[in-house]
Parts: sequence; structure tokens; C-alpha cells
Amino acid sequence: MRTVGRCFFCACAALLAGCDGRQSALDPAGVGAERIAGLFWWMTGGAAVVWIAVAALTVHAVRALPETFPERRARLLIIGGGALVPTVVLAALLVYGLAMLPDLLARAPVGSLKIAVTGEQWWWRVMYRPPSGGRVESANEIRLPVGEPVEFELESTDVIHSFWIPPLGGKVDMIPGRRTRLVLQPTRTGTFRGVCAEYCGASHALMAFDVVVMEKAEFARWLDLQRRPAAPAGAEAAIGRRHFMANGCSACHTVRGAAGADGVIGPDLTHVGGRLSVGAGTLANDLAGVTAWLERTDRVKPGVGMPHFGMLPPGELRAMAAWLGSLK
Ligand code: CUA
Repeated sequence: MRTVGRCFFCACAALLAGCDGRQSALDPAGVGAERIAGLFWWMTGGAAVVWIAVAALTVHAVRALPETFPERRARLLIIGGGALVPTVVLAALLVYGLAMLPDLLARAPVGSLKIAVTGEQWWWRVMYRPPSGGRVESANEIRLPVGEPVEFELESTDVIHSFWIPPLGGKVDMIPGRRTRLVLQPTRTGTFRGVCAEYCGASHALMAFDVVVMEKAEFARWLDLQRRPAAPAGAEAAIGRRHFMANGCSACHTVRGAAGADGVIGPDLTHVGGRLSVGAGTLANDLAGVTAWLERTDRVKPGVGMPHFGMLPPGELRAMAAWLGSLK
């Protein structure tokens, strides 16, 4: 019995340990996620009450002697336990769940930061539209000011994707030809992980992004830096830039500040060196990660639109990775 108890305790501890983390809807860091987590726990509680009642009745039915159980009492039990209790419990949970919909679907107040995010196979195009005007393009990473409601405008250029940052709020589909909306309001700073929550092809599971929630002043400084062109440094970076241009990377990627790099097919790389990961949340953004990405895009992310550059000499790949890394 003691072993069973220990196993039960270990299983509970393991399950609860899985509840926190940067991609957990049960460790909320946003207004929407808090309400959704609350709904989850009430639903779980309701389900537990119904389950315990049914299990208790089953045990009672097995043990009770038919002759000691008058028909009138049995009928009351069936109507009460079989119809009345489930109807009341489920109706209460339904009303509780539906009541939070208007708040979760509400638009952000006028003057809020807007971020347009477009899902593409298999990465995220991100465009900040601050209330102060102008646009700032980025990719595969989203930064947010803590405490502020932010309105996301979600679109897709190819198939249906689904935009989901579990610790911040609910998920919303990105549908080709339509624009859907989602308002998120982070409640604490931290780094989280967003994902695509709708199967969208071979590398659906490799379509993620980092989410960094920052203090308001820090966010304003960061956004101001993102507006500016890239300012790379270092001798190897200069060589890397030449290889980047010579190998045609500039036809697909924009690097503001690097003349000729104005392609719009792939992610904007102006400040790629300051991001936490490359390949849409697939590899660490360091020299080894970027080199591996350039060398074997097809192996890292099957079906990806970007060709691999494994045919280039290792020194050339390294120099390109050094240049990209210097674009902070
Ligand atoms: Cu995009 Cu799954």
C-alpha cells in the first residue's frame, strides 16, 4: 500500500511539474491565459465532482441488497443523480465559460500597440504598428510591453496556421484571405514560447517563436533600435556580408542598411543577431546554430523554402553566420 501511495505522489508531482514553464497554459502570464486557466480548473473540479458521484453510486449499487432498496428511493436516485445533478453542474460550467467570451474577444482600446503577424510555411512575419506611427518589421520573435493590451492582426499567405502563446492567452487561427484578431495583455515579464497550433505541413512542429515580455521603457528602447538600420561590426562580418550578397541571399531577405539586401520573400534579417533563435524557434541563435542552419536548412526543417548552402566552403558559411550574428 505504501508503494502505491509513493507512486501516486510521484505521478502527481510529475504532472504538476509539467504545469509550469515557458509554453504552459497552466502557468499564466497574461490576462486571457489567467481566465482560461481558471476555466480549466473549474472544469476539472466539475468533472471530478461528477466522476466521484458516479463512482460512489456504482459502488453503492454493487453492494446494496435489492430487497433493502425501495423502488421510490431508487427512482429518486436515478432522477436526481442521473439527470438533475449533471444538468445543474454542466449548465453552471457552460454559463461560467460563455460569460468570459465577450472579454476575451474584445478589441484593444484605441491607441494600443498593434502587431500584424502573418503565418507562412513555416515561419512568422511580424510587423509592429506602434500608436506613435510608422512600421517596424521583424520575424520569428515577438516582444511585448508588460501590462499593455496589444492587438494582433493575424493573416496567412498559404495554408491555415494557428497563432498561440499558451502562457499569454488563447489561440486564434490564421486563415488565408481573412484577417483575424487577438488581444493579449501580459501580466509579468519573462521569456515564453509561442507555437503554431494547426497542422500546416511537414514542418508544422518546427514553426515556433520566442516571446519576450519587457518593462515598458525597455520595450520602447528596443522598438526604437529595431526602427534603425543594422549596424554590423567586425572584419569577419564584412567578409560575411560580401558572401551574403554574392550567394543571392539578398534576393529573399531584407537587411535595412545593407544596400541591395531588399528581398521580401523570406524573413527580415535587419536585427536577426538580437533574436533568441533561428529557423523559427528551431536552433539557438549562435555561430554554431546559424552555420548549421545555412549548411542544411533542408535537414533542419524538411520542406523549407530556403535552399541549403552546404556546397559552400566552411569559412564562407562561418563568415556569413558571423555577419548575421553581428546584426543586433
Ligand atoms: Cu503553421 Cu502549423
